[in-house]
Amino acid sequence: MARHLITSAIPYINGIKHLGNLVGSQLPADLYARYQRARGSEVLFLCATDEHGTPAELAAAIAGKDVAEYCAEMWSVQKKLSDGFHLSFDHFGRSSSEQNHRLTQHFAGRLHEAGLVDEVMEKQIYSISDGRFLPDRYIEGTCPSCGYEKARGDQCENCTRQLDPGDLINPKSAISGATDLELRDTRHLYLKQSHMRDQLNDWIDSMTEWPILTTSIAKKWLNEGEGLRDRGITRDLEWGIPVKRGDEDWPGMEGKVFYVWFDAPIEYIACASEWTAANGGGDADWERWWRTDKGAEDVHYTQFMGKDNVPFHTLSFPITIIGSGEPWKLVDYIKSFNYLNYDGGQFSTSLGRGIFMDQALEILPADYWRWWLLSHAPENSDSEFTWENFQMSVNKDLADVLGNYVSRVTKFCRSKFGTEVPSGGKWDQSEFALAEELSHRLKAYQGHMDAIEVRKASAELRAMWVAGNEYLQSAAPWLSFRTDPEKAAGQIRFALNLIPFYAIVSSPFIPSTSAAMLNAMNLIDQSWPGDVKQSLSALAAGHVFDVPEALFAKITDSQREDWQKRFSGRRD
Ligand code: 2FM
Ligand code: ZN
Repeated sequence: MARHLITSAIPYINGIKHLGNLVGSQLPADLYARYQRARGSEVLFLCATDEHGTPAELAAAIAGKDVAEYCAEMWSVQKKLSDGFHLSFDHFGRSSSEQNHRLTQHFAGRLHEAGLVDEVMEKQIYSISDGRFLPDRYIEGTCPSCGYEKARGDQCENCTRQLDPGDLINPKSAISGATDLELRDTRHLYLKQSHMRDQLNDWIDSMTEWPILTTSIAKKWLNEGEGLRDRGITRDLEWGIPVKRGDEDWPGMEGKVFYVWFDAPIEYIACASEWTAANGGGDADWERWWRTDKGAEDVHYTQFMGKDNVPFHTLSFPITIIGSGEPWKLVDYIKSFNYLNYDGGQFSTSLGRGIFMDQALEILPADYWRWWLLSHAPENSDSEFTWENFQMSVNKDLADVLGNYVSRVTKFCRSKFGTEVPSGGKWDQSEFALAEELSHRLKAYQGHMDAIEVRKASAELRAMWVAGNEYLQSAAPWLSFRTDPEKAAGQIRFALNLIPFYAIVSSPFIPSTSAAMLNAMNLIDQSWPGDVKQSLSALAAGHVFDVPEALFAKITDSQREDWQKRFSGRRD
């Protein structure tokens, strides 16, 4: 049995994520996890909240709460929303877990022993008005690389460059806007990334199957400009994982914490350990996913993330793993995404612009959003959410094509034959032709899903739904019923059989609708179709079914206009 370890970039704890965040990592990761499970693979699908660093501290301060308390509350909020979107994580962890504390300190110790950590006395920006150092997001200014004026001290959102606060032009405090800043001495740890350049280059070169977006970003930061710089991995902050090497204190590092981007990817590993702890398992249970000396050599590991996260996952995290000299599993495939824009601009958490996960679920069920987001995933370029396009996709693909098919077939059967699959009639040329077409399309669909080509997969799935509709239209059992009820019975039996077939193959995209379809058809065997012809005969004559409620409601013009207005400003 194939074994798939799948992780989604772990969302920052500060606030509810917007749909652009969702489609950039968690949702496509869920699609892939569901698909792999449906194909019979053993899957471990992990995500967590990213709780350290300045985003958490700043957000807690705004909310007037203690950081730990703020994080615990926001974890519950995010967990509830991810359940609402049917994200099927095996565990939704927390980067502030005890497991992550231990592992992060462990990795730091190993990197230190390997001679890959430097202690550097350096000058950091200190705000006289604020009375503190200003690491990372506590400082804003102009990006020295692209000129973007709202770059943060740790990274430029616009060009993805990793930054240090001292790199910014015209820096100012993000807490108070103060510009009375000065440089003060402070001691920090640096990961000697530059020492690993050749090893990293070879590793990236060996990943010939990676998407171009991933490889091009990795190569850009590896080879261009200043190339791979050593990175500060500690901060003068209160909230975070205390700097230690293994269990030992680190002289000179008292009162400091690890940089959030050092501990966040280690949470991918810690999360597996949290998962076993939550389920009463032991170390061996998670190590068989993560340690190549303990059973993980046959694991295939896929990571999902937005493009701004790529440098950390292709450079910094692999350096932590390789540099430890221990047999941890390295990622096999990194699926990265461009940005989703919102109605002529960007989604923005800080500006409250766009649709956020909680708001989306208040107005429509998760499957409407899942379908639109996945079928418009920003894979090869940025894509854009517009209400017109959303309305059109939902009404056409979901309501007219899939929903209407299910409703017409089940209702017609009920009115003419009752709610038992009718006997009589047999497959004719058009039934064989459709089964043949669906076999081809299913193969293509599987190929796209295996390759994580999300848009292509959704197009193929839609084409399978459309083919069923076309069949129904041309077979027209309502006409044949008048002259040849036996023939109509055969046609409708075939048409009913398409419903569980659609439900199973659509389940990675629209899991709750699929469950409703299967429920209505009372099908016990829900395994992935191997032989399409065979699976289109799964419902035999006499099998009892229910007519389901309408699967999807159309979005009216007035709803669309209402929502367009409601979501045009800033969220409160
Ligand atoms: O961009 C983000 O939302 C980060 N919190 C992602 C971190 S992914 C990882 F490395 F853990
Ligand atoms: Zn920039």
